[in-house]
Order: sequence, then structure tokens, then C-alpha cells
Amino acid sequence: MTYARVKGTGSYLPERVMTNAELEQLVDTSDRWIRERTGICERRIVADDQSCRDLAMIAASRALDAAGLQPGDIDLIILGTCTPDRVFPSTACLVQAGLGVNPGAVAFDVSAACSGFIYALDVANRFITTGGARRALVIGSETMSRIIDWTDRGTCVLFGDGAGALVLEADDETGILSTHLHADGGCEDLLNVPWGVSQGYDALSGSAGKLKMRGNEVFKVAVRTLGRIVDETLEANGLAKSDVDWLIPHQANIRIIQATAKKLGLPMEQVVQTVAEHGNTSAASIPLAFDVAVRDGRIRRGELLLLEAFGGGFTWGSALIRY
Ligand code: UT7
Repeated sequence: MTYARVKGTGSYLPERVMTNAELEQLVDTSDRWIRERTGICERRIVADDQSCRDLAMIAASRALDAAGLQPGDIDLIILGTCTPDRVFPSTACLVQAGLGVNPGAVAFDVSAACSGFIYALDVANRFITTGGARRALVIGSETMSRIIDWTDRGTCVLFGDGAGALVLEADDETGILSTHLHADGGCEDLLNVPWGVSQGYDALSGSAGKLKMRGNEVFKVAVRTLGRIVDETLEANGLAKSDVDWLIPHQANIRIIQATAKKLGLPMEQVVQTVAEHGNTSAASIPLAFDVAVRDGRIRRGELLLLEAFGGGFTWGSALIRY
């Protein structure tokens, strides 16, 4: 049996820190409200001359270093993002060229908003376990600040920029145990960015073309849905809640994370939490959190990790990994 094993992790956060105090100057909000309702204290914002590709390349290079591999060793790149550099080439192709990954490797983006990394991980796992690739870079990279309406207090306090990456390698030893993906396209009006190439460019200017969310309604669906996917994942593997060593959740809101941890009966000490410093970095949030907890020594080889995400689409998914 061939597994996809996590060989290395990497991440990158832009230098610029935006605090809640700064947001108090932009919209009618308060540091207290943001901390209490979301758990967020600060977030990072890309520099004017940085793009999704730039963040992804640094995170991917760090993951390759951690894995002890070279770009030339990689034969698959899958990148989750909803803020790509271009319509095409895909950001994955731009990363391939930038890093010097073999011409001829497979490279493409997946679009599943905040679930983009879990979707990318699922596809990479399928490539590796069926012999379609040996070594994969799986990346989540986002420049959310570019699609935020900085006059909307309901959304602008939530998001941040960053990138995270995993290197997966085919191995006889256990690695990714299962992945679970779902979508429901019927709730588009609750969370969307209402413009796209095929609709023309009229809506691009001003706040009309920026991210829209009916936060409270999304919150309720997210809590319900993530509770269900936790059960689905454990049942599929015949495992108990107590078998999970670490929950690595999508970092949208500390209250959503707490609800999922409660559902698992997991103390918050076993939940990787980066939402306070990173905000919601969409597809980048899980690999960013993963890398933080590997590098600070919390996550150790052999431990059982449950990753889960929920986002625009709606899309949601999970992965169970023996690290
Ligand atoms: O990652 C993709 C998935 N996204 C999510 O999972 C996000 C889900 N949603 C959330 O995290 C939360 O719903 C929010 C943090 C967005 C909002 O928290 P909430 O507890 O659901 O607040 P609410 O939307 O029910 O609003 C409560 C009050 C309202 O005022 P009134 O009508 O009670 O007077 C809002 O206008 O809070 C007000 N409010 C704010 N006040 C200060 C909304 N945003 C702010 C703000 N500062 N930034």
C-alpha cells in the first residue's frame, strides 16, 4: 500500500502587521469587539509589489528545505487560492517556473475558497496513492487584502494574507489516512466575491466587486457542518475522538474553532490556533497553522492530525493524517 506522507512543511507571512487599533481608524469597530467576537488581534498584509505567487514560492521553498528536497525532485504542484496572480497561467505554473521545478511536472490551481488547501491535499493524495506522482508540493496562498472592502466592518476585520505549503512523498509508511470533500453551491448569496472575467469588468471598481458575507448565517452553517465532518472522518477510519492528537482547523473565528474542539472533546491545548495573529487567510490558514506547530515542536512524528475547513461555495472538507 502506498501512502502520501508529509515530508516537510513551510510557510510565509508578509512583513506588514495590521492591528485591530489600525482598523478602528478605518471603520466603526473596536479592538474589544474584534477580539471577543473573532479572537483576532492582528493580521498580515501583502506589500504592494507582492503577489500570491511570491508568498507561495517562499512557503514552498521552506517546505522543500524542511523535506531535504530540491525543486527538481517535485513532479506535482497543486495550489489552492481564490486570489491568483492571473486568469492564466495558474499560480501553480508560475510557482513551477519561479522555483525551477521540472518542466513536464503537473501543475494546477484549485478554487475552493477557504477549503482550497484541503481540496488540493485530497487531489494530491489521490495522485500519489495511485502512482500518478511521487513527490508533490501542496500549497495554500492568498492575498485576501486585495478582495476586501475596507469600508465594510463586517468583513474587513476578519481576513489576512499569507501562504503555507506541504511536501508529500509516496511512502510505504502510513501518512494521509483519508480525505473527505463536500460542496453545496446553493448558498452562494451568503458568501461570495460577485465578479468574474466572464461577467465583464464593470463591477471591478469600488466596493461592488469585493468579498461579501452574511457572517452570522455563515457562522451557524460552519459550526453545524464542521461538527458533521469530524464524525464522518473518524467513522471512516474506525477511530475514536480520543485518538486525535491535534486538531488543525481552518482559522476563521475562534468561536467556530472552539465549537469543533468541543464536539471532539478535545482541550484547546490540542488545537493549533493561529487566528489571533494571522486572521482568516482562507486557503493558506491550515498549512500555515500546520507549519507553525511543527516548527515550534508541538506536532511530533507519529501523531494523529485532523485537518478541517469550511468556506465559500459552500465548500468543506477534512483530512486525517498520521504525521
Ligand atoms: O472562512 C470562511 C467562512 N467564514 C466564516 O466562517 C465566518 C463566519 N462568521 C463569523 O465569524 C461571525 O459571524 C462574524 C465575526 C463575521 C460576526 O460575528 P457575529 O457574532 O455573528 O455578529 P453579527 O454579524 O450577528 O453582528 C452583531 C452586531 C451587529 O450589530 P447590531 O445589529 O447588533 O447593532 C453588527 O452590525 O455586531 C455588529 N458588527 C460589528 N461591530 C463592531 C459587525 N461587525 C462589527 C465590527 N465591529 N467589526
